[in-house]
Amino acid sequence: MNNSTKSQTDSFARDVLEGLSASPKKLSSKYFYDDEGSRLFVEIMKLPEYYLSRSELEIFRDRAAEIYAAFGEFDEPFDLLELGAGDGSKTSLLVAHFLEEGSDFRYIPVDISSEALNYLESKFDDEFPGLEISSIKGDYFQTLETLSARSKRRKIVLFLGSNVGNFSDEQAVKFFRDLRGTLNEGDLLFIGFDLHKNPQTILNAYNDAQGITSRFNLNLLRRINRELGANFNLDEFLHYASYHPIEKTARSFLISQREQTVDIEALNKSFEFGQWEPIFMEISQKYDLETIQSMASSSGYEIVGNFFDSHGFYVDSLWKPTPA
Ligand code: AVI
Repeated sequence: MNNSTKSQTDSFARDVLEGLSASPKKLSSKYFYDDEGSRLFVEIMKLPEYYLSRSELEIFRDRAAEIYAAFGEFDEPFDLLELGAGDGSKTSLLVAHFLEEGSDFRYIPVDISSEALNYLESKFDDEFPGLEISSIKGDYFQTLETLSARSKRRKIVLFLGSNVGNFSDEQAVKFFRDLRGTLNEGDLLFIGFDLHKNPQTILNAYNDAQGITSRFNLNLLRRINRELGANFNLDEFLHYASYHPIEKTARSFLISQREQTVDIEALNKSFEFGQWEPIFMEISQKYDLETIQSMASSSGYEIVGNFFDSHGFYVDSLWKPTPA
């Protein structure tokens, strides 16, 4: 095991220990994305109930020209950075439009998964021969700081897919503030937010009929079994999703169906679960425009434009840093 894999396993073990020792028990959704978890997430994006990806794709497909215009002047070469690169399907629509307009830019996907980056690089190489791609595996902030120190190019930073929704509001404001610290005047941030809507539509997105979201959640127990030598019996836990329309928060839980003990070898510890005891797995926050506005101003940005899909389900919001 190399040093970086070892330190990743150590922080995974530490977070699992902390989460399962807490009351109520919790696990962090940032660990969902091992190979199987990433594969299941691609399945989720294709589900009829999971409107988020389709809505954002529609915005990029139908409004690329308006988005491009809102990005402003492009006389100098610039960098198009994407935080948490995903499968690149939306970005490729934007990249295609940029190239049609003859813009001079580099595409820089940033992700912690080298597999995601390799996939993206080969997809973009095939689709856009001649496009300069320099993918970076690593931490968002370190990457942005290094880039800002190394190059004076203008930056457009994409944070799509409603990834912000997996943060609490406080974490989101801290994230945007930290990001603000790495941006210069003229740089832009383009963020995907899932909007509040019929609560049933939201609930269905996290409780699909085919049970893929359930497998996605349970996969984290399988990962703990494999990487930390645990003996979770996946059949003894069930997926439960909820949506709270006042807080505008979707939450998912795994529920222990009976009293049971789970041993985790790497932690040298056993954990007791009561019958119907929940493990809190994930938050998926939904937003209204007032909240997005106040989040932007309290983290040091001004909204330049909002781009909606035809159902008003989703918005991609373009922010520019306010002068310090
Ligand atoms: C990645 N993230 C924005 C997804 C979401 O909608 O919160 C993860 C997800 N969890 C269950 N389904 C999708």
